[in-house]
Amino acid sequence: MNLTLKIWRQSGPKDKGAMKTYPIQGVEADMSFLEMMDMLNEQLVGKGEEPVVFDHDCREGICGSCSMYINGEAHGPGRGITTCQLHMRSFNDGDTIYIEPWRAKAFPVIKDLMVDRSSFDRVIAAGGYVSVNTSGNTLDANAIPIPKEDADKAFDAATCIGCGACVATCKNSSAMLFVSAKVSQLALLPQGQVEAADRVLNMVHQMDLEGFGSCTNTGACEVECPKGISLENIARMNREFLTAAVSAD
Ligand code: SF4
Ligand code: FES
Repeated sequence: MNLTLKIWRQSGPKDKGAMKTYPIQGVEADMSFLEMMDMLNEQLVGKGEEPVVFDHDCREGICGSCSMYINGEAHGPGRGITTCQLHMRSFNDGDTIYIEPWRAKAFPVIKDLMVDRSSFDRVIAAGGYVSVNTSGNTLDANAIPIPKEDADKAFDAATCIGCGACVATCKNSSAMLFVSAKVSQLALLPQGQVEAADRVLNMVHQMDLEGFGSCTNTGACEVECPKGISLENIARMNREFLTAAVSAD
């Protein structure tokens, strides 16, 4: 396959940035999207040009770092996959592919396609944990009965990989899907009850401080989320928040 890549190049956070055009030949259908990007970078380095900077780690849909906006969609065409799980057979010979970073105030561009998602880390640090009694008489987690339905919902919420596609997709750059998944996975379990009220209040407060926008129930986040995180989590977080806010007054 011969392709034309239009890639966002930005030398640093203060640079204005621009789309640059890169023709690439000999791309194989079985290559992953990141392998195609590696191939481009090898060619750029061979020509003495700067390679395109992009985040990646596991390359198997687990770490959530491969944040790319491809042809106007977070993680590109296809549902339920991350950029690293996208294969070039999703494209046709002669295609032009537009590749951009996540665009959100709370995710400033570091360089090219790499953005700073430490705002997510700070939201987690504000409450995404449980307190455990370590005095020696801790109850084994496996000995605490949990209804199957709750365990399944908590597990589903816990599959969020913190990729940020929900924010990048949302017209308001809202992080509600991410934060609600992190709140839900603990709110649904007995172990998460100790600081449940503080958790939701503090995480939502930090989310607002970081500059994420509000949720207007469009649902684009759910459609583009590679892990199928449900909007049901946002409804649950809103209930948790209201209950906590009323009790705190
Ligand atoms: S909710 Fe989905 S899109 Fe958002 S960070 Fe988690 S896995 Fe990524
Ligand atoms: S590189 Fe880890 S999810 Fe894509």
